[in-house]
Amino acid sequence: MRRPPRTAIFPVGGLGTRFLPATKAMPKEMLPVVDKPLIQYAVEEARASGIEEFIFVTGRGKTAIEDHFDHGAELSNALSARGKEAELRAVQDMMLEPGQVAYIRQQEPLGLGHAVWCARRLIRGDEAVAVLLADDLVMAKEPCLKQMIDAYVTVGGNMAAVMDVPREETNRYGILDVVGEEGKLTAAKGLVEKPAPEAAPSTLSIIGRYILDPSVFVELDRQEAGAGGEIQLTDAIARTIGREPFHGLRFDGRRFDCGNKAGFLEANIAFALARDDLREDMTAILGRYAKACQSGEDALAK
Ligand code: UTP
Repeated sequence: MRRPPRTAIFPVGGLGTRFLPATKAMPKEMLPVVDKPLIQYAVEEARASGIEEFIFVTGRGKTAIEDHFDHGAELSNALSARGKEAELRAVQDMMLEPGQVAYIRQQEPLGLGHAVWCARRLIRGDEAVAVLLADDLVMAKEPCLKQMIDAYVTVGGNMAAVMDVPREETNRYGILDVVGEEGKLTAAKGLVEKPAPEAAPSTLSIIGRYILDPSVFVELDRQEAGAGGEIQLTDAIARTIGREPFHGLRFDGRRFDCGNKAGFLEANIAFALARDDLREDMTAILGRYAKACQSGEDALAK
């Protein structure tokens, strides 16, 4: 049995250009799905999966993330004075323990591989680490990372959460060159970052959840740019295949690509429908819009 990862890296250094102007002065990872920022979902998933140390790789204009996970004495006092117990609990329960959180800057957004590499001095060199991209939001009964860790302790090596995508979308993902499947685990003999649909070795794509063997950091030291001129994490992982096994885990759950607008809006609908306090209102609203869409009427007219 391998030791499960204790540390998670959260790369939040990207520019979030697809959400401009919202992301001009606010990080994409602070966009809320219903009433919680994306980054908080990712941190909660990691915490529920047994992660004890949280490293945020931030960039320019990302201080809101640090503030979000910081103790807000003034706010707590005000909520307490007003008897807002539920709200007080909501801000207290999300607090991580002192010393559990570290922030490091990625001075330039040179790619996901570069962002992960920036955390190299903050991790233990002989342990696996988890990487979570907050803009991939997963709704699951059992946290996606926990599902991965349960599989990882048996097979080791490198692992990513994977899902099938339509072939015309392979150029948006890291794609597996599959050698074999066993249950939910797929072994790969290679990984290709953002291949054109006709060149993609499969349609099994990596989403933003990884467990990395320390050897990946040795590969990242090479700082080689790949697809799109960025230093790609998948390229570094791919170079370890042969020495380390690579597995994709088909996780149970639903993933929302909150890095693009339609995915983000869908996540808001799905998470609102899953909430007891919002389901009824949301169902009525959606029903109204669905009817209007079908009939070509203006849903706002009534
Ligand atoms: P994206 O490819 O979604 O890029 O990054 P982005 O800059 O965040 O968004 P767009 O495409 O301009 O709208 C995927 C993840 O990798 C992180 C991002 O923060 C995001 O979580 N990332 C990307 C970094 O931390 N640093 C980078 O240099 C690039």
